[in-house]
Amino acid sequence: MSNAVVLEVSGLSKRFGGIVALNNVSLKITKREIVGIIGPNGAGKTTLVNCVTGIYRPDSGKVFFLGEDITGKPPHLIALKGVARTWQKIRPFYNMSVIEAVTAGALLRTKDVLKAREEATEVLEFVGFPKSKFEMLGRNITLIEHKLVDLARAIATKPKLLFIDEVVAGLRPHEVDVIADVVRRVNREMGITLGVIEHVMRFVMSISDRIVVLHEGRLLTQGTPAEVARDPLVVEAYLGTKPV
Ligand SMILES: Nc1ncnc2c1ncn2[C@@H]1O[C@H](COP(=O)(O)OP(=O)(O)OP(=O)(O)O)[C@@H](O)[C@H]1O
Ligand SMILES: [Mg+2]
Repeated sequence: MSNAVVLEVSGLSKRFGGIVALNNVSLKITKREIVGIIGPNGAGKTTLVNCVTGIYRPDSGKVFFLGEDITGKPPHLIALKGVARTWQKIRPFYNMSVIEAVTAGALLRTKDVLKAREEATEVLEFVGFPKSKFEMLGRNITLIEHKLVDLARAIATKPKLLFIDEVVAGLRPHEVDVIADVVRRVNREMGITLGVIEHVMRFVMSISDRIVVLHEGRLLTQGTPAEVARDPLVVEAYLGTKPV
């Protein structure tokens, strides 16, 4: 079962007015893989995650999760089936505490608030969030702490597949290393399959088993990090855009 298909996207397309954000994209993610999803700005990476998680309904194509057709299903149902994501634009929770924010994730699977709070505590400890700051309000924590809370909230929903969308954007190099370590442990110790959308190449190339490259809504190529890094098509796609 080690190469069981967790996610299969088949011929997925999504337009916004005249913009073709996704153009006939097909790909698979197998159990326990870490798949890096890269591509220049506007390539369609976030739109892909939005179509898989039910935020957007694709214009055509299908999304299968563990063999089940989940195309066009509502986000809550897809989350219950076991697909979680973090958000590219951080959604600050200024007036909520850290522990409350993560408890909200755990409440997807239980109505018992105390149990959810215990689970949230465990997940925050797992991602290495400082215990002394569990009761702090969102407005008083740092950017990396926000990123850890967002990861913890997603993990607290007990996903089988987790998409993280530019989780290290804006972080310092040593903070990137902290997140890389957490993401590896989420995969290895929790057994969660991961889709990692990222511009920071050092990060995504070091943690991914496989890389998928999107460009102008199409799947440009895929392969191991080493194969993709030396692929002339990939170099050209990136050189054709402004540096990020
Ligand atoms: N809700 C929307 N309404 C209109 N256009 C959209 C919407 N969401 C995405 N787009 C457009 O679809 C294209 C793909 O956007 P998307 O956000 O998926 O790219 P991305 O690969 O995630 O880029 P980035 O690396 O900058 O986050 C872009 O041209 C974007 O402007
Ligand atoms: Mg994006």
